[in-house]
Amino acid sequence: MDSRSIWVRVPGTSANCGPGFDSIGLACTVYNDLQLRLTEEPGCKITISGAGAENIPCDERNIVWQSVQYILKKAHMEDTYKGAVIHMENNVPLSRGLGSSATAIVAGLKGANALLNNRFTRKELLQFATAIEGHPDNVAPAIYGGFTVSTTTRGDVECFTLIPKMRLKLVVAVPDFPLSTKKAREVLPKEVSMKDAINNIGRAAMMTAALCKGNEKFLRNVFEDALHQPYRASLIPGMYEVFDAAKKAGALGASLSGAGPCLIAYCLQRRHVEEAVGQAMKETFAQHGVKADILIMDLDTRGAHIINDR
Ligand code: HSE
Repeated sequence: MDSRSIWVRVPGTSANCGPGFDSIGLACTVYNDLQLRLTEEPGCKITISGAGAENIPCDERNIVWQSVQYILKKAHMEDTYKGAVIHMENNVPLSRGLGSSATAIVAGLKGANALLNNRFTRKELLQFATAIEGHPDNVAPAIYGGFTVSTTTRGDVECFTLIPKMRLKLVVAVPDFPLSTKKAREVLPKEVSMKDAINNIGRAAMMTAALCKGNEKFLRNVFEDALHQPYRASLIPGMYEVFDAAKKAGALGASLSGAGPCLIAYCLQRRHVEEAVGQAMKETFAQHGVKADILIMDLDTRGAHIINDR
């Protein structure tokens, strides 16, 4: 018998947050929704609407379908459910550094797990999602919501999620060109200097502590990075100038969102600077020949969840 149909909502995410390369991430209030039904009949029927729909494969290469198959195998249910009916409604921009592939992986895992009566825990879903994605910093906030700090120790992924003591507004400039994570990782060095590593360790630790305590003063320089952004700057025209413009307009700081090309500025809600920061980022990008849309978002605190009221 085919399964019932279920809807899952998964937030977009911004990884690294400057110094936390491959370990820190946050979830934001832009979402992809998945409707999923498992079928006894083999094969997948996939329909997609919204952001980047025309560039997402609707066949065996589809990441949602691959993630559904992954969890069916883990549950030894692949002989019961050989196919699926998948419908995606996407708002997260595709291949821009807002975790669109993580939303697809998490949606497939979370949806199929719910249809299997929640056979696996969230921690197990995090293991599976990290195995599929290769690093935890997008899938962790997509699953848990909030700010997340993740580590992998001999294959075991741990994730700590925190809701900052201060309210943040997240201003994201979304350039009109895509950038694949693969390409943005190819420009990274194999080794880094001790000085650069120390620089990042201090900032990542300071960021986490200051967010937990709600201490704004210590957030001023924590979004700087020496491990990946300097190498990726050549792929994003005007990147450092956009960071400077955001800070001048009142943001606490700014960073590359994931592997880019989106840039994200972190603002205090009580300062009401997010509109001005967005405008400054847009204009500065334009001065470097880049057309960008601005998204102003909050932190998502819920993570992936089943929606029943659609
Ligand atoms: N941490 C990853 C990177 C995020 O920066 O390459 C992108 O998926």
